[in-house]
Amino acid sequence: MEQNTTTNYVAMPRIGEKAPSFKAVTTQGEIDFPAQYAGSWVILFSHPADFTPVCTSEFMTFASMEQKFADVNCKLVGLSVDGLYSHIAWLRTIKDKIEYKGMKDVEVKFPLIEDITMEVAKKYGMIQPGESSTKAVRAVFFIDPKGIIRTILYYPLSLGRNFDEIYRIVVALQTADAFSVACPADWRPGDDVIVPTAGSCGVAKERMENKTGELKCYDWFFCTRKLDKDAVMKAVTKKK
Ligand code: BEZ
Repeated sequence: MEQNTTTNYVAMPRIGEKAPSFKAVTTQGEIDFPAQYAGSWVILFSHPADFTPVCTSEFMTFASMEQKFADVNCKLVGLSVDGLYSHIAWLRTIKDKIEYKGMKDVEVKFPLIEDITMEVAKKYGMIQPGESSTKAVRAVFFIDPKGIIRTILYYPLSLGRNFDEIYRIVVALQTADAFSVACPADWRPGDDVIVPTAGSCGVAKERMENKTGELKCYDWFFCTRKLDKDAVMKAVTKKK
């Protein structure tokens, strides 16, 4: 890890804020972010460098899951501070030569942004000098159809991300929105969901009455209800 000799405070995007906008060159042409993704969820993620092993394992995994994300109305956009020709050469190498954990002939079809000036990486707080001042950390921004940042993950250079968790986050966020609920620890589709706490008279009334007996209350502040897996998957996969 590089030494941090001075402490610089930089503005970083936060949950609930509009995703900072930018135009950039990618392996799939120019993009206007997040404007051109309006109406769909989009994951903007960074990796430290092309032609490195952890990043290669991540790209192969993400590319293999691209359709799964598309099925829940979620697009993928990658970024590193490498140039376009490095990106193209690396993605071709992945497709032509790398076989890893049963994945082979993997074509990365989602855009990979070139960011040699680090302009975008800095805007998104992806350059974290305590970890590296020349490479982006492994950031993941989950942006909703209105262009609002809904979740942010940051991983260090040495740790590959968990893509099942990234998928789970997309499904959980959409479930929370669609059913006005919250998702408890380790929630997966089919598990009980949390009925929101105070703040809404309707919710308080629903709790007090519990006419249908659907709620399970562990205490006044902690009530859950069943939410069928099929209902969740129907809500998150319906044509938008
Ligand atoms: C990797 O992806 O393997 C990697 C990239 C940058 C630093 C360390 C590891």
